Amino acid sequence: MIIALTGTPGTGKTTICGILSEHSQYRKQFHIIDLNKIVLGEKLYTGKDETRDTYEADMDKLEERVKQVISQVPQGMDIIMEGHLSHLLPSDVIIVLRTHPVALRKRLGKRKNYSFSKVKENANAEALDVILVESVERSKNVFEINTTDINPLAVVKSVIAIIESRKQGKTPDGYLPGKLNWIEQVEL
Ligand SMILES: Nc1ncnc2c1ncn2[C@@H]1O[C@H](COP(=O)(O)OP(=O)(O)O)[C@@H](O)[C@H]1O
Ligand SMILES: [Mg+2]
Repeated sequence: MIIALTGTPGTGKTTICGILSEHSQYRKQFHIIDLNKIVLGEKLYTGKDETRDTYEADMDKLEERVKQVISQVPQGMDIIMEGHLSHLLPSDVIIVLRTHPVALRKRLGKRKNYSFSKVKENANAEALDVILVESVERSKNVFEINTTDINPLAVVKSVIAIIESRKQGKTPDGYLPGKLNWIEQVEL
């Protein structure tokens, strides 16, 4: 199964994949593809937006490269594509990590390489459900996890619960999108 683990920067994608790759039983089941690492490391971008301080990924090249990587993964392993662009690539399930914008602002504020405006831009994108909307436009298999008040290990458990449930052909009802509404809780 190919899983896209997406979410606004700061929602915890890399943390969750770090836990998955540290534990031997998870490492046997999941092959993790770090999309940011590929985009930056292999220069798969069309340019850099200097004012927003972001690289514009070349999605066609990225998709091709990821396909290649996936073809080398041993049969039976689940593939987790990690990154805020992962929902734009072909997958079987999209898992969107969500964080209340105020908590997200706090998490991103700790990043030394993030300007005030970059923190704000991401918190606003989270408030407006940008990645969730892009995901549900592309796939029927979209689930979201609210990471605001749970620790990373609990998020890992939720990710696995969603994957196992989909493998059994079930719908993980607790994670269906549309239950969160930041906008009514946030002053923009
Ligand atoms: N469930 C969580 N609760 C609180 N803080 C978290 C949680 N998950 C991640 N963090 C913290 O938030 C920050 C961003 O996490 P990171 O995994 O880098 O996000 P992403 O890869 O989605 O951009 C880090 O400082 C991390 O320690
Ligand atoms: Mg990350």
